[in-house]
Amino acid sequence: MTDLHTHILPGMDDGARDVTQSVAMLRMEREQGLKAVVLTPHFYSDRESIEHFLLRRKRSFSELTCRLEQLPGEEYKTLPALYLGAEVAWRSELLEKEELPLLCIGQTKNMLVELPFTPWTDGTIKQLYELIVCFGITPVIAHLERYLDRQDPKIIRKLLELDVPIQISCAAFEGFFVRRKVMKLLREGYTCLAASDCHDCTCRPPDMDMALKVIRRKLSENKVSELVCCADELARGN
Ligand SMILES: [Fe+2]
Repeated sequence: MTDLHTHILPGMDDGARDVTQSVAMLRMEREQGLKAVVLTPHFYSDRESIEHFLLRRKRSFSELTCRLEQLPGEEYKTLPALYLGAEVAWRSELLEKEELPLLCIGQTKNMLVELPFTPWTDGTIKQLYELIVCFGITPVIAHLERYLDRQDPKIIRKLLELDVPIQISCAAFEGFFVRRKVMKLLREGYTCLAASDCHDCTCRPPDMDMALKVIRRKLSENKVSELVCCADELARGN
């Protein structure tokens, strides 16, 4: 099982503030049965270049892996496997960046994309289509539940028709109204993946276990396995 959306890398964004907190979050992921975690710090192209972001991410990742290797009793071997990625705040200008594929998850052509909170238009959908066709990149749409009441349902339908994977935050499975909408999407056959979008150990913690309990209660075991496998494949690129 893979957590596809996390802010565990230390000092990168509003997630883990230091490496101690990163390790604590990874332990929580392990206790919940996660075998892999994708590290997806925020990337904002209006604040820094892709090159600068990758350099910061590399430093942060080295700091984390160094600490993990120093854990007693080779504990690091029991922790989830780590993949590098980014939560890319979508801007149309990104389509002009040749280095864009470097923000994909691990060695894959899958990219976690955070769409704007301003109204989406047909142009937004067209840009995502261009991302797929021109770059061969599959956008994984981050936390769709946050947009369900903010965006025109017709545009959301057009997004779903692109048949791209949709990520839903685990916390969304706690609230009755959002959960009902998400479960409807799942039953309609859209690829909706639960991921924690964890930022710390307390306020926005790794909480995959809670979401999976709800999904298991509402859906068949086959459907649950399908969703779990899909998240694994998006991280590994199988
Ligand atoms: Fe996030």
